Amino acid sequence: MQSIDNLDSLAERLLEANQVGALTGAGMSKESGIQTFREKDGLWKKFRPEELANVDAFLANPDRVWEWYNWRRDLMSNVKPNPGHYALAELDDLISKFILVTQNIDNLHNEVGSKHVIELHGNIRKNKCQSCKKPFETGWLDFSEGKLPHCDCGGLIRPDVVWFGEMLPSQAIEDAWQAAAKSDVYFSIGTSTVVYPAAALPFEAKIHGAYLIEINPDRTDLSSIADLVIRMPSGEALPQIIEAVQKRKDQS
Ligand code: APR
Repeated sequence: MQSIDNLDSLAERLLEANQVGALTGAGMSKESGIQTFREKDGLWKKFRPEELANVDAFLANPDRVWEWYNWRRDLMSNVKPNPGHYALAELDDLISKFILVTQNIDNLHNEVGSKHVIELHGNIRKNKCQSCKKPFETGWLDFSEGKLPHCDCGGLIRPDVVWFGEMLPSQAIEDAWQAAAKSDVYFSIGTSTVVYPAAALPFEAKIHGAYLIEINPDRTDLSSIADLVIRMPSGEALPQIIEAVQKRKDQS
């Protein structure tokens, strides 16, 4: 197991911070068994996002897009949070204020009870009408008779996730932007930092004076400006950081 240098001073910095922020990406859920998008065996290597994750693709071939999301939902229904998710949830009770922004739609941060989760790209367990945007109950829709679910307005029901070319939920991105600007310490965890506007958040935090920490086994565009780069899987790094914060807090 790798270890992190200067863990004690990092723990002190987190305890002294008025506000800590984090942006998580698909790498956060890799150790839960969910594939990322852009690694060599990633989802976008096997499937074409332009055929599956945008409105035109959905309207042109809703069956195929629903098939793709039902396949992902089935995969995710057996997936459990990993130690990294639990560690971030513990941070809520250890430091003054922790705002967790995620690009992930897998619901895992909610599942472990993280208190302030901002879901920038939606949540695969939620649905909405493509036409009137009416939200539909979470969980699975019934496709048994083989026909596609429709809203009572006549519109097609779709997963409530943000597709390429779509705007992010305005309140979510506004809150995430604010949180980045106010953070004294900001984590970028398990994201390739290539999809905007989410990818801009760690840079925004840094511009506003945050101590920027990247947790990712691989290099990203953020690596060169991060104050601390932890080249480890998040499921290993985060528990070590939280343990150090807990120990430091117990000593004070
Ligand atoms: N711990 C931390 N990071 C990891 C781990 C791990 N165990 N395993 C892989 N990673 C890193 C990879 O090296 C990569 O840099 O996680 C990152 C995942 O990058 P992407 O696959 O691009 O996923 P993400 O950054 O979340 O993509 C952003 O793009 O396709 C859209 O909507 C989709 O939300 C997604 C967005």
